[in-house]
Amino acid sequence: MAEQRRPQGSTIDADAIDSYAAATDAARDPGRFWLSAAREIDWVDEPSQPYTENPDGTVDWFPGATVNTAYNAVDRHVAEGNGDRAALIYVSPVTGREETVTYGELLEQVRRAAGALRRLGVGAGDRVLVYLPMIPEAVVTMLACARLGAVHAVVFGGFGSAELAVRIDDARPVVVVTATGGLEPGHTVPYLPLLDAALDESRHRPRHVVVVDRPEVPPPADRVVAWPVHDWAEHDWAELIAVAEPVDPVPVAADHPLYILYTSGTTGMPKGIVRDNGGHAVALSWCMRHVYGVQTGDVVFAASDIGWVVGHSFIVYGPLLVGATTVLFEGKPVGTPDAGVFWDIVERHRVDVLLSAPTAMRAVRRDDPNGVLLAEYDVSSLRGIFLAGERLDPDTQRWLGQVQPAPVINNWWQTETGWPVVSNFLGLTYFEPRPGSSTKPVPGFTVEILGHDGTPVPVGHEGAVCLRLPLPPGALTGVWGDDERLARTYLTEHPGFYSSGDGGHVDEDGYVYILGRTDDVMNVAGHRMSSGQIEAAISEHPGVSECAVVGVRDELKGQRPHAILVPAIDFVDRADQLRAEVSALVRSRIGPIASLAGVDVVGALPKTRSGKIVRRCLRQLLEGAELEVPPTIENPAALDDLARTLGPSPRG
Ligand code: COA
Ligand code: AMP
Repeated sequence: MAEQRRPQGSTIDADAIDSYAAATDAARDPGRFWLSAAREIDWVDEPSQPYTENPDGTVDWFPGATVNTAYNAVDRHVAEGNGDRAALIYVSPVTGREETVTYGELLEQVRRAAGALRRLGVGAGDRVLVYLPMIPEAVVTMLACARLGAVHAVVFGGFGSAELAVRIDDARPVVVVTATGGLEPGHTVPYLPLLDAALDESRHRPRHVVVVDRPEVPPPADRVVAWPVHDWAEHDWAELIAVAEPVDPVPVAADHPLYILYTSGTTGMPKGIVRDNGGHAVALSWCMRHVYGVQTGDVVFAASDIGWVVGHSFIVYGPLLVGATTVLFEGKPVGTPDAGVFWDIVERHRVDVLLSAPTAMRAVRRDDPNGVLLAEYDVSSLRGIFLAGERLDPDTQRWLGQVQPAPVINNWWQTETGWPVVSNFLGLTYFEPRPGSSTKPVPGFTVEILGHDGTPVPVGHEGAVCLRLPLPPGALTGVWGDDERLARTYLTEHPGFYSSGDGGHVDEDGYVYILGRTDDVMNVAGHRMSSGQIEAAISEHPGVSECAVVGVRDELKGQRPHAILVPAIDFVDRADQLRAEVSALVRSRIGPIASLAGVDVVGALPKTRSGKIVRRCLRQLLEGAELEVPPTIENPAALDDLARTLGPSPRG
């Protein structure tokens, strides 16, 4: 491909800055700061201008520059003589396999996989839907897409057929890459029947389906392909790769989309968050060094899944962009085989930085409360444990700090932002942590807490957590398929700001405290789900007249969905049947990760005069909290009835 160069000649060196104050100060001039940070990336056409502004207040980073993300994540390290360094360590306690892939080997695999996709007609801008478990082929497929300038849309393996179908229709992929299945503790999850059902339901048809054959999960013997044979072709991954011609990276414009990642909003329809190539590579590269303190050659273990943003940013792209080694873990924090598995991996692979979710640490604590298992391992290589994805309760943070020596860092961010917005820093100043706080805004992000009237609230007061525009590189550049949805969803409530959907406050020393969502989005074991999404699945049941789903506090998972429904006339006397069928429906349509903690069948739901269900009251009743009845409630009697019927979850 064309020669790759690093830009020179900026008067600041964003990468050399190592104090929080200096970085925050420098980032006040975002153009100069990020243009300087862009020097860490190899470009085909270097950026000369930091950004152009759009009428809606967003910006396009590095206009006119061209780049290839896969080149920066893989080829570059081989070209620099690091082909023998480990790029990926695949640790799979569920299959008993472990494998190290060097940068040289990864390059070969990605070149061939890109060749295979190209042979199936995938070109720049085409979408490839990736429905794969945590296996090396998943990372290879993502990078192969990036190599071609194609756009990957990874769907988490724990989603059911309805969620998959919605994403297929929205992304309209040319190719779907999947596997025969995934492995969960004690059972397998065959993917092909789920994909068949999704394709049966979706309007869009891919041209090809590529299947990674996993010996542990043979395709169902009685599988009936549910679609007309002429619609598309099904291929075996290994056979395609064996005959594929390796391809070179395709240069794309900096603002060309790298991926779509779906996340839950307040409606039942997920949002396809779009990330660009240039800004993403620059931001993650800077973030790895300055937030996580990760340098070339370090080992990063992000215990998440490639189906979530943590997986995209910190299993795949972030570590590889800086030439670190990433651990790809196919297992659970507990039960595969036990609560010592994270520490075992840390010891054996000398992990420098561990990223995980508070739920995972609560599960580890539940099984190893005194750190007895942990003490069997040498975790001295760890420089920090970063926890994100949901609220980190101070008790878990304290416990983790007591049983092992590395700093425990609470960081706040979202699928939309792509990388941490509020954090402590291993590559800048490290601040004394405060319980309940995610510490300080990451340089590049300006956090403001706004009141209903859009003005900043006084110090210590709660308000909407907003980010001043423009957002730095690496944040979302759009919502797939709907040019106005980004502005409509995030930028209209407080002009000049991105509204995060979270509430919070800032203390007198600038520490930020995130208190939780202010909308109908819930967080179940670090997985984001919306009430609307689950309600849409429940409404498919003919016995349901109306329903509401709320996230109810759960000691292990943070929250769990709980359904309250009004039966259709035919089901008034069949509440038990309805409860069982609705629970099964949610598992099959949304996926087992959304399993309902309880189902209540009631006479009426509380509503405002405009007909909106007052979910907050339902949550308060289920959690046994004090009831705050809004003045606009239309049927207060329904609440009195519910107060007698509903009690603290779980039930049903
Ligand atoms: N593919 C298919 N099914 C999956 C899946 C996947 N990738 N992930 C989870 N599931 C299934 C599980 O098998 C389980 O099914 P079951 O009800 O039939 O047993 C169901 O979804 C719920 O799984 P899970 O949420 O993992 O709950 P659990 O009770 O089995 O385990 C924890 C509890 C705490 C161990 C687990 O929730 C966990 O590992 N949490 C941390 C998650 C995390 O890191 N999130 C951060 C993402 S950024
Ligand atoms: P997701 O987009 O799936 O990463 O979910 C983002 C949401 O998770 C945020 O809007 C928050 O509600 C929540 N979240 C993530 N990290 C934290 C954190 N450190 N503290 C509190 N909430 C968090």
